[in-house]
Amino acid sequence: MTTESKQELLGYQSYSIQKNLKYFKPTKTTTTATFAEEIRNTLQFAKKSISPKFFYDESGSKLFDEICLLPEYYPYNAETEILQKIEKKLLPYLSEEFHLVELGSGSSVKTRILIDVLLKSQKHLQYFPIDISEILDQSAKNLCNDYPNLTVTGVVDTFENGLDFIENYDDKPNLITFLGSSFGNFEKSAGITFLKKISSLMKSSDLFLIGLDLKKDQKILHNAYNDTQNTTAKFNLNVLKRINKELGADFDLENFEHHAVYDEQKGRIEMYLRSLSEQSVTIPKSDLSITFSKDELIHTENSHKFSTLEIESLLKESNFEKLEISKLPELEQYMLHKLYCLNENFNKNYKKY
Ligand code: AVJ
Repeated sequence: MTTESKQELLGYQSYSIQKNLKYFKPTKTTTTATFAEEIRNTLQFAKKSISPKFFYDESGSKLFDEICLLPEYYPYNAETEILQKIEKKLLPYLSEEFHLVELGSGSSVKTRILIDVLLKSQKHLQYFPIDISEILDQSAKNLCNDYPNLTVTGVVDTFENGLDFIENYDDKPNLITFLGSSFGNFEKSAGITFLKKISSLMKSSDLFLIGLDLKKDQKILHNAYNDTQNTTAKFNLNVLKRINKELGADFDLENFEHHAVYDEQKGRIEMYLRSLSEQSVTIPKSDLSITFSKDELIHTENSHKFSTLEIESLLKESNFEKLEISKLPELEQYMLHKLYCLNENFNKNYKKY
């Protein structure tokens, strides 16, 4: 069976944009239906929430790019700095032709650093960005124009579905990256399940690169999510705008405000939208009418921060073996960046149990 028809069986449509660029995505009807359904499921009960994966429509992705340029948002700069030194650590592991698989690629800015390194050890590179955001179309086009030896195959879907897609692709080794501490969005057990999924689908020759944000001074954390330009607030509120636009809802954005706090015990930034008055909202496509009391919160994101010890145990539990670690020395502005590889023997032992 050809790759294309295998992917079609998985429920994707293939779009060829130009010779070196194509992407797979579920149909618009499918995505809107799941969006409407998930919003219904998470807003209909007393404790209201919206999944952070819905932040990233076109304006949400642009706002996130703006967040990355904020002086307060240290993770972006820290990780870019680490990536700029990755060549020495990465090159020794790259003997064959690797694919680059990026989970949550967004606008693929940091990716260019990795593409440059990979193209030093191989003539051609196939890049598979997996991102729920449509922004993929644009950023992939730019990449293709800038790199003649690059083939981009985008998967516009959730990480989980994207990984299923990659597992069925071909036999070449993959460098799978999960950067920017996106992993911090997961609850502990869901995070472990996700990492286990990655390690179990990895071939022995595959590599996994993950960037995780560390615990640090609470002031720094607080400011990173409460910036003076209010970009994070706009990013948070934009999800309501999106629900208005795509699901026909009538959220009054003036009547909600951004709220982000660090919960020390849980080791995470929690982000909410607070209702500024008693109000009601209807979301026609979710077939839902809801009421808010004054100060009621909608939970929109958790962003976990880790200690080195927590990371070590997390990765051990998900069957990863450590190859390299990169850290930034600045005590309060650093991020772990690790290169993990599934150890085949370890995995064999693990499977016995
Ligand atoms: C993309 C999930 C890593 O949690 O720091 C930035 C998203 N939210 N500012 C993070 C985000 C508010 C970001 N991640």
